[in-house]
Amino acid sequence: MTLTGAASAAYLVSGLLFVLSLAGLSKHETAKAGNGYGMAGMALALVATVALAGDDLEAAAIVAIVVAMAVGAAIGIWRARRVEMTGMPELIALLHSFVGLAAVLVGWNGYLSVEGAPAGEAEELGLAVEIHSAEVSIGVFIGAVTFTGSIVAFLKLSARIKSNPLVLPGKNLLNLGALAAFVVLTVVFVIEPNLPVLAVLTALALALGWHLVASIGGGDMPVVVSMLNSYSGWAAAAAGFLLDNDLLIITGALVGSSGAYLSYIMCKAMNRSFISVIAGGFGNEGAAATGGGEDGEHTETTAAEVAALLTDARSVVITPGYGMAVAHAQGPVADLTRQLTDRGVDVRFGIHPVAGRLPGHMNVLLAEAKVPYDVVLEMDEVNDDLAATDVVLVIGANDTVNPSAADPGSPIAGMPVLRVWEAGTVIVFKRSMNTGYAGVQNPLFFRENTRMLFGDARERVEDILKAL
Ligand code: TAP
Repeated sequence: MTLTGAASAAYLVSGLLFVLSLAGLSKHETAKAGNGYGMAGMALALVATVALAGDDLEAAAIVAIVVAMAVGAAIGIWRARRVEMTGMPELIALLHSFVGLAAVLVGWNGYLSVEGAPAGEAEELGLAVEIHSAEVSIGVFIGAVTFTGSIVAFLKLSARIKSNPLVLPGKNLLNLGALAAFVVLTVVFVIEPNLPVLAVLTALALALGWHLVASIGGGDMPVVVSMLNSYSGWAAAAAGFLLDNDLLIITGALVGSSGAYLSYIMCKAMNRSFISVIAGGFGNEGAAATGGGEDGEHTETTAAEVAALLTDARSVVITPGYGMAVAHAQGPVADLTRQLTDRGVDVRFGIHPVAGRLPGHMNVLLAEAKVPYDVVLEMDEVNDDLAATDVVLVIGANDTVNPSAADPGSPIAGMPVLRVWEAGTVIVFKRSMNTGYAGVQNPLFFRENTRMLFGDARERVEDILKAL
């Protein structure tokens, strides 16, 4: 087999491993294996690409590539080991910016080595040069939007810049105008490829990416990060066309479409409009704080009372939220689950699709604490059972269990929620009467069958464990 044939076969296997990886990541039981498939696919792709390039390269260039890969891998491992779960979105945003920048550089390199090459390689390509120019333009555009958009997302998420949405007059018109200008510039570039047009197009895309994400409030950034994940996939696919690399096209399309689908699921679960996220303008109406003021009488309880209640319960559902992550309470929650299960109590978890701050946030924490997968259910799997449940423990969740979502006048109207109030007794673990992420008061706290257990969730769960 020739080297090219072997590389094509390796690419095919890598592509299949990436598909297996995505399939594996869709369920907790197979998520670890999914990660393994992804890593194996990427390792194979890297080896095949270097081997293929090595055919035309001098030894020094190959050494440079291997050294760059080793340095990159070392930085990647170091960052990934240090990052906290809550810091994940900003790290992912930063990584997306690299994909965007790479697509811009590939695009520029494509122009300089073909259309802009003095020896006129473009002439050799004949008609195909127009397609090449269109690929350069589209690749640079998507890459530049992803690059600056991801940088703004990173800066906002890491609180390096203010997270308030930037509201320029006529911002939607500005975005539309930039898109129209991109189409015109692409047509001009395809007819007459030249450096000034490519430079203007790049600057326009950089400004558009910046503006799109700057217009969105910091609180809504996780959905934007998922959208940028999708853009980074399309940017990689565009680079794949330019480099004539099938695997990059396949991988980019997989990332692009799965990222878009994930954003769609998140938007649905948060009751946001998918189209307005893509248009970079939904952040302003989000996080509509209606204050943390009290709205009725709430009843407090103690850890000892909750322990007694749990001892008598036959069925318990735990609905964790962002507060469980903040309190690092997953370990004690897992111990509580084991203790109750050993006493014959039926304990299950109900996970809202956007509980926490990133997709799968709660699932990862519970898996880390070794909670068995089969008791961790999705919202739709558990909602109909809640009415027959003796006790629900709401651990650091708020918006995801807010009955006012059924009220058409509420800022979270239409958001699907866990109907915990249907259970016999609801225990809410939180530190104060403050609102959750959406800034909306939660009438659950004032229901007759609700008891508030104030304090840090980890400490309170540990108190219950001591009292049991
Ligand atoms: P939230 O509505 O954010 O509420 C978290 C609750 O945890 C708060 O009420 C807070 O109350 C409590 N809390 C914080 N620290 C605590 C601690 N140390 N101990 C005990 N309680 C603590 O949480 P949720 O129900 O998980 O909802 C998630 C929200 O984030 C939704 O609005 C969702 O749309 C949004 N969102 C989610 C995602 C994804 S993909 N998951 C992405 C973007 C946005 P106190 O301050 O009184 O303690």
